[in-house]
Amino acid sequence: MIKVLFVCLGNICRSPMAEGIFQQMIYEAGIDKKIKADSAGIGSWHIGEPADPRALRTLQKYGIQLNRRARQIQRDDFTNFDYILAADHKVLSDLKKLASRHITTRSRLMLIRDFDPLMPGGEVPDPYYKDIQAFEQVYQMLKRALQGFMEHIQHTHFHIQDQ
Ligand code: 4NP
Repeated sequence: MIKVLFVCLGNICRSPMAEGIFQQMIYEAGIDKKIKADSAGIGSWHIGEPADPRALRTLQKYGIQLNRRARQIQRDDFTNFDYILAADHKVLSDLKKLASRHITTRSRLMLIRDFDPLMPGGEVPDPYYKDIQAFEQVYQMLKRALQGFMEHIQHTHFHIQDQ
């Protein structure tokens, strides 16, 4: 089982969207028994809350239902997950700081957009203070980057080449 954790600041916009999109992709690829996706936030402000209504509405447009509550990243995550993928550089640097406190960090810490063929290493901008259009842009960006990530996983772990 390969475990992937998506992380943003609040765990109500970007990382739950990434989780929902990736979950749909692994289901459609028939590998949902082999990969587990989850998401978490750096901050504690929104713990226990559902995803932002604009994130949910955008996902619903693409046939994705998301029924989850926000949680904060915790110590165990750094040993439980194979990949921890950050939404932006600040989140990645916060993750690296947190990981450096634990001797047992096993996870690979990377950016979600390291796998975006259009802009590898780019950021997923925070849409929280913007309008619904920003959520649509986040969706498109995540979809593209996660397709790249999926290919990476297929090559690396399942030895499957591109069609
Ligand atoms: P997210 O967006 O990190 O994509 O979930 C945010 C949500 C809430 C806040 C910041 C970013 N906030 O400051 O409350």
